[in-house]
Amino acid sequence: MTHKILVATGGGDCPGLNAVIRGIVKRASLEKEEWKIYGCIESFNGILKDDVEIVEFTEEMVSGLHVKGGTIIKTTNKGGPFHFPVRREDGSWIIEDRSLLMKKRFENMEFDAVINIGGDGSQRISLQLLNLGIPVVGVPKTIDNDLSSTDFTFGFQTAVQIATEAFDKLVTTAESHNRVFIMEVMGRDAGWIALHTALAGGADVCLIPELPYDPKVVARKIETRYKNGMGFCNIVIAEGAKRIGGDVVGQAPTAIGDRHIKLGGVGDVLKQELLELGIEHDIRVTVLGHLQRGGTPVAYDRILATEFGVKAFELIKEKKYGNLVVYRHPDISYVPLEEAVKEPHLVKLDDFLVRAAKGIGMVFGDESIL
Ligand code: F6P
Repeated sequence: MTHKILVATGGGDCPGLNAVIRGIVKRASLEKEEWKIYGCIESFNGILKDDVEIVEFTEEMVSGLHVKGGTIIKTTNKGGPFHFPVRREDGSWIIEDRSLLMKKRFENMEFDAVINIGGDGSQRISLQLLNLGIPVVGVPKTIDNDLSSTDFTFGFQTAVQIATEAFDKLVTTAESHNRVFIMEVMGRDAGWIALHTALAGGADVCLIPELPYDPKVVARKIETRYKNGMGFCNIVIAEGAKRIGGDVVGQAPTAIGDRHIKLGGVGDVLKQELLELGIEHDIRVTVLGHLQRGGTPVAYDRILATEFGVKAFELIKEKKYGNLVVYRHPDISYVPLEEAVKEPHLVKLDDFLVRAAKGIGMVFGDESIL
């Protein structure tokens, strides 16, 4: 008997996606029965489009893939089966629910199940597909590390490594020029990338979405450092950070099917706030952007992604549908999708990471010390 699995990668790309695909395909090839693994091109668009785009993986195609960043089957963070953008003849767009079409095609092509590799938005889609009667297993990915059911998502450690290396470089130039550097990192509503980078890089100030900041506290820290003869100051700010009583900085979505605000620019806003408070030192802003998602995954993410791929296949083989593969130290395990998407994983102020950072004098933009 031949079994067929459809694999999709959804949301923003993330180092380790290809390693998951490789894990699934290699694990499936060890079975006595035949398991065919297919990739749905550009998330679920491949099965939703008028001209279906689905590829069958061979072992050759996935050989060495654990090292390669991005996703060989493409991805998108717009649209999806329940909000599929369709261009009309007059050039305008409408949003269609194509979920029933997807189910029909899924059944006609005789797929057994779907593996959906994606973040919180993608796993909400997994749950909707499950409720529609499509057997699905989710695999958590995101550089933001904001999924509460898993200790870590793959891609996060790579993003932190990239951000830390960038920060290290800014420190030496800040020191040479007696400058204040503000480095803006990704993470959406979660401060994990900022917090880990700030700790690894030895930042003086770390501003995260979970703790709105007072620019006066940041200004005071800068002046103290200059007065103490340090002569430079390095700040990590998360893209989703906001001042007390303020709002996040970004742009409303413009692309069709996109429902997320594009965060970005809070580093410049902070610079302006500091100038208005009378800071006269040279302040420079670096926005790291998509560099944090690109390139080769670090070893940790390759390993986690491979484990997730193997586990996802095994859950499908055991017909344990409706679950998200998770890492709960020391096991790779699974939780129901419904539970997995309930709430995000955000930095809590009593996390020891925050206490450790405050314990070495890092300022978070609030008045408290420890
Ligand atoms: O969720 C991953 C992420 O990189 C966030 O950190 C960031 O806010 C967002 O995606 C950026 O999305 P896009 O690539 O659509 O600009």
